[in-house]
Amino acid sequence: MRTKFIAGNWKMNLTKTSSIELARAIARAIPNNVDVGVAPPFVYIDAVASVIAGSKLLLGAQDVHCEQGGAFTGEICVPMLKDLGVKFCLSGHSERRHILNESSDLVSKKTHTIYSGGLIVIHCVGETLEQRDSNQTLNVIRSQLSELQPKIITDPNRLVIAYEPVWAIGTGEVATPDDAQEAAAAIRSRVSEFHGTETAASVRILYGGSVKPGNVAPIMAQPDVDGALVGGASLDAGQFAQICRYRELAA
Ligand code: 13P
Repeated sequence: MRTKFIAGNWKMNLTKTSSIELARAIARAIPNNVDVGVAPPFVYIDAVASVIAGSKLLLGAQDVHCEQGGAFTGEICVPMLKDLGVKFCLSGHSERRHILNESSDLVSKKTHTIYSGGLIVIHCVGETLEQRDSNQTLNVIRSQLSELQPKIITDPNRLVIAYEPVWAIGTGEVATPDDAQEAAAAIRSRVSEFHGTETAASVRILYGGSVKPGNVAPIMAQPDVDGALVGGASLDAGQFAQICRYRELAA
């Protein structure tokens, strides 16, 4: 049984004070039956850690360097994140792939570093509008999932895949529940090629891209969708709490 996972990616937003207020409000509002996490900017992780201590809210990071430490000016490594209480880290977010030009090779290294460092990795995949319009969605997903090789995943609870179509991120356009399900099923089948059906059945697959309280319930109802990666709506404690309580919205 896969526990649903809702993660908020705060991106490059907020201040120290507003991060603390937001984290505190979310920690108070999360339901028991769902895993909920937030990924603040690096500089606010420590402050957020201190206000959510003792709560169920999982602390995350948006990025990390692919080495475990050393002479890499300006970078942050997995042991530093763990030191602050971070439990999960994103890898391959489309903004890093497309705006910061991270290569597939680098994303693969980061995913492996995060996983082997003991954190939950949220490996993000998704097609651009151009790729979608030329019917390349499933090919792009397959290719981005090759980054999970070589086979290292022994604990499926620490591998999470986020399907985030680039055209849906921050645009207000959301994938249909059927499209989200089709992509999630393709992801699970691809993961089974590398890691076997048992692992693939346990890996959690999230949908991300303009998730809001008004559209989350039918997406979460899809059999292969195990959660959501939320950008804009995670900056509002009320909206994010509603998303985490999607079961009540569906009722
Ligand atoms: P939005 O929810 O703002 O579309 O962002 C999605 C996202 O990129 C989460 O990582």
